[in-house]
Amino acid sequence: MAEELKISSGTKEEKYKALVPQVKALVEGETDLIANLANICSALKYGMDFFWVGFYLVKNNELVLGPFQGPIACTRIAKGKGVCGTSWQKSETIIVPDVEQFPGHIACSSLSKSEIVIPIYNSKKEVVAVFDVDSDQLNSFDTTDEKYLQQILNSLQFD
Ligand code: SME
Repeated sequence: MAEELKISSGTKEEKYKALVPQVKALVEGETDLIANLANICSALKYGMDFFWVGFYLVKNNELVLGPFQGPIACTRIAKGKGVCGTSWQKSETIIVPDVEQFPGHIACSSLSKSEIVIPIYNSKKEVVAVFDVDSDQLNSFDTTDEKYLQQILNSLQFD
């Protein structure tokens, strides 16, 4: 296993194109889910220079903080609350260009300005987790992020 990621410079797309195959290789060589979630967070935090990267796992009908990189975050989020709880409830990816404009946004850090949240499914198509990436800049995320982040998430086995 490579112990260091090769971080590329250039556009966002160029960075993802260099990073995603390395992260997929890292994840596909390991069966432990938590180890994989933890490494994905680190790879994206340091590879893409995001402010906060983390997973919330569905447990007893709420989201509970899982592996993450970045400042400490709120530990529990109810279904339908904030961006994460809304992504879970609607079962859809949500891109928020300005968190202050998102009704009910949960401000774990006042430095977080924009975010993307992607739901993750098990084989029964139930949402079992959400993946949350936050930026300290407005308008950081678009369909390019969605595409490459989803490719990474597709290599996870959540059952
Ligand atoms: N922004 C999220 C809460 C989690 S933190 O940002 C890490 C939300 O509104 O769901």
